[in-house]
Amino acid sequence: MIKSEIIGVGYYLPDNVVSNSDLESKMDTSDDWIKERTGIEERRWVKSGSKLTTSLMGTYAAQDALLNAKISKDDIDFIVFATLSPDYYFPGSGVLLQRNLKIKEIGALDIRNQCSGFIYALSVADQYIKSGMYKNILVVGSEIHSGGLDKTSRGRGVSVIFGDGAGAVIVQANKNSNSGILSTHLHSEGKYAEELIVKNPSTNHWIDKIIDGKDQDDSSYFPYMNGNFVFKNAVLRFEEVIMEALNYNNLTKEDISLLITHQANLRISKFIQNRLKLSNDKVYNNIMKYGNTTAASIPIALKESLLNNKLKKGDILCLAAFGSGFTWASALIKW
Ligand code: COA
Repeated sequence: MIKSEIIGVGYYLPDNVVSNSDLESKMDTSDDWIKERTGIEERRWVKSGSKLTTSLMGTYAAQDALLNAKISKDDIDFIVFATLSPDYYFPGSGVLLQRNLKIKEIGALDIRNQCSGFIYALSVADQYIKSGMYKNILVVGSEIHSGGLDKTSRGRGVSVIFGDGAGAVIVQANKNSNSGILSTHLHSEGKYAEELIVKNPSTNHWIDKIIDGKDQDDSSYFPYMNGNFVFKNAVLRFEEVIMEALNYNNLTKEDISLLITHQANLRISKFIQNRLKLSNDKVYNNIMKYGNTTAASIPIALKESLLNNKLKKGDILCLAAFGSGFTWASALIKW
């Protein structure tokens, strides 16, 4: 049977570090509040006027992943790009990545599953590989949140959390391997779509409302999050989807060598760690440095785990995510 193996991981983070104290001058917030409620100490925000875009950061992360995998861009036969902050409303960021990397005319698919985007994208890659359709798939998660946040006190409940960044993996078909993606598990519950949302621009509330100047106080162009409600659902679904993955593979929580959850809030990650009774060395968190980078958070954390020697061959890696939609997902991987 064909296995999907992650053979290369890459990341890219913009240089510009924004500390909690930097935010104190923009809005009514404090370093203490942000650290206590979220664990975040700083995040990266692309500098205003920078040439960086979501697809360009994804391109840099992809180049890092290609180097790590020791394969050429010409070996890639499909692109899956997860983001909620695309360069353009349309076309998607996958085709821009294909253009940036100067790859031949392969397929490029965009995934719109927000914080669960990377695992959804990985799942798509896994299925294409297991079906025999493709051999090397580039999976990217990249976000520039900073340009779309309400950086006034009105938006403080959301804007302090989000950061910019990109991560990428190369998934390869391998017939003679014991390692690879064991399973992925995807869920959604659209009845809560409006609990974490950017409402506009949309096809029934188009950008012309801003241009004609009538809508300047309209906050629907900024992310809205019902924080407490999202938090309560997140802790429930994270645990559920991790247990689903373990049960499906006849494994137990003791078998997890490393857990990487989507970095939404350190309190959420700690809560799950406690519920699963995992020691600190079995969980990797970096939200302190980067905030919530949505579709990019898991591949960035995966890259750092590898750089810090947290994963070795044969380890069981568990990935889990929850976010807007609501959507949630997990992946179990034998490294
Ligand atoms: N600085 C200072 N005070 C702030 C603040 C900020 N940046 N943001 C909100 N507050 C205030 C609120 O106005 C509120 O004040 P009040 O009590 O006077 O009304 C108080 O802090 C508590 O707000 P609350 O929203 O209840 O805080 P919280 O403990 O729930 O933390 C989140 C807020 C957003 C950090 C938390 O709810 C969260 O992490 N939610 C889930 C995020 C998530 O998982 N997202 C999914 C993937 S994206």
